[in-house]
Amino acid sequence: MKKELQCPVMTTTAGAPIADNQNSLTAGANGPVLMQDWQLIEKLAHQNRERIPERVVHAKGWGAFGTLTITEDISQYSCAKVFSKVGQQVDMLARFSTVAGELGAADAERDVRGFALKFYTEEGNWDVVGNNTPVFFIRDPLKFPDFIHTQKRHPVTHLRSATAAWDFWSLSPESLHQITILMSDRGIPVSPRFMNGYGSHTYSFWNAKGERFWVKFHFKTQQGHKTLTNTEAEAVIGKTRESYQEDLFGAIAEGNYPKWNMFVQVMPEMDVEKLSYNPFDLTKVWPHSEYPLIKVGVVELNKNPQNYFAQIEQAAFSPSNVVPGIGFSPDKMLQARIFSYADAHRYRLGTHYEALPVNAPKCPVHHYHADGSMNFFGHKAAELTGNENAYYEPNSFGGATESAQFKEPPLKISGDADRYNHREGNDDFTQPRALFELFSQEEKSRLFQNIAAAMHGVPDNIIERQLALFEKVHPEYAKGVRAALK
Ligand code: NDP
Ligand code: HEM
Repeated sequence: MKKELQCPVMTTTAGAPIADNQNSLTAGANGPVLMQDWQLIEKLAHQNRERIPERVVHAKGWGAFGTLTITEDISQYSCAKVFSKVGQQVDMLARFSTVAGELGAADAERDVRGFALKFYTEEGNWDVVGNNTPVFFIRDPLKFPDFIHTQKRHPVTHLRSATAAWDFWSLSPESLHQITILMSDRGIPVSPRFMNGYGSHTYSFWNAKGERFWVKFHFKTQQGHKTLTNTEAEAVIGKTRESYQEDLFGAIAEGNYPKWNMFVQVMPEMDVEKLSYNPFDLTKVWPHSEYPLIKVGVVELNKNPQNYFAQIEQAAFSPSNVVPGIGFSPDKMLQARIFSYADAHRYRLGTHYEALPVNAPKCPVHHYHADGSMNFFGHKAAELTGNENAYYEPNSFGGATESAQFKEPPLKISGDADRYNHREGNDDFTQPRALFELFSQEEKSRLFQNIAAAMHGVPDNIIERQLALFEKVHPEYAKGVRAALK
């Protein structure tokens, strides 16, 4: 009697039914496998292609979907539709990450955390690809690959190298601000729920009148800051390497949705000329007393991914993704990132990475890019008009056209093309000092201990060079680290 089918019939990728998924096709019971066992070949070949390159940085990550709700009117600064109505909600995706660790790294390691947000707005995707710190280690993008090499593994020992890290940092005084944050309590958050996010760079806003403002984005955790000491982190990692995934996924699964208050700092365009610091320098913050936080809305993460690979591993964030009303700034680091991310995505995910469901805008997309590897969506422009002749631009067949209403006001820039020394005339010490002075005595003492622990095995000359930099921030800073080293 024919067995009643309980499940759909398993098939090859070409849709042909499979009769036996347990036994390979062989010549005789113990014999060699036949080459015609396509089913086996397809299975092994597919498995060999299950992994894609991990992100060159920020490989280990945790993500979820949610919403941004606008609670205040900031349309005086930006005409972006996403900010146009109080009460408006926009769907979004967040991915948090560590910078240096590989895909299988332990979550509770001391590192800067990535804080990448993708807002699916009605005018296209807007990505804020920030970190949990408002500043960065370097201010010139030419140094980024060098810096990352010091964070990844040594080419011979294949071990992480504290010597490389401190050698580079001690030769790069602009890193002091970020090092002080990294080595402070906030260097190991308990999970992404308990940390702030920052766009870090200066971006720009423009409003309906065509006025430009410089802007910084801040996302402040509503859960409060919770951090781990080195000893606590060691205990966590001893038990689980996946503490962030467990915490974030678990909280959302229980309906305990994490939230962040979104703020901006806004600077009128012409203030640049009167500031004592470069507002486009990624190693500096804008003091809150000069540029107070202005509330914008609330980010809430309320939906776990259903397929980690498809929705988080294949997520592609890029600082180049801005929408009308939000623009760039002269920040050199931002300028380099505008190129670097989409280039990385084309390598990691392929030409049509933006057509993947998690990256696809939720508004109509009409471009004239054609064909390419794995194109599964045809000609967008032709789809819109229903006219197969509208596959180039300009055309006479009703294809999508440009629209001057979205024109960005001119960005004022000037100067001779040159390689300007970014270390000349820059104050790398005042802002780390302001931070150091904010710390309580206990926080300072943990800072000293964390630095001393991170310097284990580093040659004395490099340590001395770094101590000389700490001395310039604050004599107590250098003294404290020196004592902790003993
Ligand atoms: P404020 O006193 O107005 O702000 C101090 C800021 O420091 C708060 O945002 C606070 O974050 C943050 N903070 C506290 N502890 C740490 C830590 N361990 N690591 C990182 N941030 C921390 O001062 P100013 O605006 O004048 O800035 C003084 C210093 O504060 C800066 O030099 C900078 O190092 C740091 N800072 C400044 C920020 C800014 O945008 N102005 C943003 C973040 C840090 P929270 O409110 O979440 O507790
Ligand atoms: C990831 C380059 C500085 C935040 C990446 C990736 C590249 C890159 C190539 C991998 C992208 C991918 O494969 O999907 C650079 C360069 C920088 C720079 C060239 C400097 C010149 C920064 C800064 C920040 C930052 C300053 C934060 C303020 C992130 C985040 C991710 C990331 C959050 C992970 C995004 C995700 O979750 O997919 N970076 N980066 N980077 N970078 Fe940077």
